[in-house]
Amino acid sequence: MDFSQNIISLTKRRGFIYPSSEIYGGFAAVYDYGHYGTLLKNNIRDAWWRHMVQLRDDVVGLDSAIFMHPTTWKASGHVDSFDDPQVDCRKCKSRWRADHLLEAFGINADKQPLEFINVELDKIRHEKKLKCPNCGSADLTEAKRFSLMVKSNLGSPTDVLSEDNVVYLRPETCGGIYLEYKNTIDTLRVKLPFGIAQVGKAFRNEIVARQFIFRTREFEQMEMQYFLHPSIMKEKYDEWKEARWKWYLEYGITESDIRWYKHEKLAHYASDAYDIEYNFKTLNGYKEVEGIHARGNWDLSQHGKFSGQELTYTDEKTGEKFIPHIMETSVGLNRLLFMFIDKAYNEEDVKGETRVVLKFDKRLSPVKVAVFPLLKNKPELVAKARAIYESLRPDFMCEFDDSGNIGKRYRRQDEIGTPYCVTVDFDSLEKGGVTVRDRDTMQQVRIGIDGLRSYFKDQFDRK
Ligand code: GAP
Repeated sequence: MDFSQNIISLTKRRGFIYPSSEIYGGFAAVYDYGHYGTLLKNNIRDAWWRHMVQLRDDVVGLDSAIFMHPTTWKASGHVDSFDDPQVDCRKCKSRWRADHLLEAFGINADKQPLEFINVELDKIRHEKKLKCPNCGSADLTEAKRFSLMVKSNLGSPTDVLSEDNVVYLRPETCGGIYLEYKNTIDTLRVKLPFGIAQVGKAFRNEIVARQFIFRTREFEQMEMQYFLHPSIMKEKYDEWKEARWKWYLEYGITESDIRWYKHEKLAHYASDAYDIEYNFKTLNGYKEVEGIHARGNWDLSQHGKFSGQELTYTDEKTGEKFIPHIMETSVGLNRLLFMFIDKAYNEEDVKGETRVVLKFDKRLSPVKVAVFPLLKNKPELVAKARAIYESLRPDFMCEFDDSGNIGKRYRRQDEIGTPYCVTVDFDSLEKGGVTVRDRDTMQQVRIGIDGLRSYFKDQFDRK
C-alpha cells in the first residue's frame, strides 16, 4: 500500500470519512462524515468563522437557502455556461474531463473554448498517446460541454417533468449572498466596504476523476463576498490575500506547503483571480484549495437587471450612487479537511514499530483530551477516571477509554489526533496526580487533578 492509500484508509478505519451509500455499492463522488470527521469539520468551520466574522467589524453572517428562485442562475450565467468539457470512453463508458486529460500532457486548457481543446486532443490522438485512463482504450469521443448544474423540481408531483418546476441546487453559496445584499443593507447597520460570509452546501454535477474527497458532487463552501467602491479594490484585494494566507499559517500549514496560482484567463467582468494551492502528499502535488477573486460589479448588475430591483448604493459623504464591486474569498470546507488530514498525517518509527499520528493544530483536533484508567479491572481507578472525564467534558471534547491495554489506547488516540491523554494510576488515588501524555512529544508530565482544567485551558488558549 502506498502512502496516500494509507491516509485514505485511515480516514475510514478511524471513522472520519465513509463512502456514501456503501451498503448499496456506493455512490460516486459523494461521501459521509463519521464522528471524528464531523468534529474536525466543525472545528475548521469555527476557525474560519472566527477569523472571517467574529474578529472583524466589517463582515456579517448569513445562512441562505439552498433552493433559490431559478432566475438567479439564469442571471448569473450558470444555466447557460457553467460547464466542463467532457470526453467519453466508448469502450468502458467512463467519462473524463478533457482539460484534465490535457493537463497530463502539460497543456493548460483551463476555461479554454471547446475548439482549442479538441485541436489539442487531436494532436495527442495523432501521436497515438490519447488513452482512456481507466481501460487504456484509444476510442475516446470528441470533447463536449457538460453542464455542472444539478436540477431538481419543486411543486406539483404530477408535473415533475415540466420545465416550469425546475429548480437548481445551488452550485456555489455566494448566489444567496448577492440576493440578500439588499436586505443586509436595509436591516443591519452596515456601510461600504463590508462583507457577508456564509457556510453551506453546494452541488455540482462533476465529472470526477478518482481524487477521494477533493472534488465531490455535494460539498460545503465557506464564502465571503466583500462589497466595495471600485477605487479601493486593489487595496482590499491585497489585504484579503494576506489575511487568507495568514489563516493557513495560523493553523499549522507552513509557507512551503502553499503557493499562489495566478489565473491568466479571467472572466470578462473580473480584474484579478488567485488561488491558494496546497501541496497534497495524497494527490502528488499542488492543488487549489481556495480562490480569491475580484469580480467587478457583474453579480449585482445582473441580479438588478433580471429582478428589476435597484441594487445600487449611495455614498453618504459624496452622494455618489453606484453598484458595488465585489471581492470574494471562496474555499471548500471538505477540501480544507482533506488538506489538514494530509498535512497532519505522520508515520513514525517508535522502537521498531510504526506509530501513525495525526498532528493537527490542537484547536482543530476532533477530541481534545482522552481519559483512561490504567487498568480496567480496578473499579476505584475506573471510577476516578470517569469522574475526571465528567469534570472535563463540559469544557473540552473528551473521550473515556478503558478497553485494551494502555499502549493500544495511545495508538488509537494518536490516529485520531488527540493532543492529550490522561491516565489515572494508583498514585492518583493516593496523591491526587495523573499523567498527561503529549501526542507530539510522547512525553508525560504529572499534573494535580485539581489543576487539570486550567492546565488544558492554557494549552488550548487561542493566540
Ligand atoms: N464562488 C466562487 C466559486 O465557487 P470555485 O473555484 O468554483 O469558485 C471555490 O470554488 C472553492 O470551492 C474551491 O477552491 C474548492 O475549495 C471548493 N470546491 C469547488 N468545487 C468543489 C467540488 N466539486 N468538491 C469540493 N470542493 C469544491
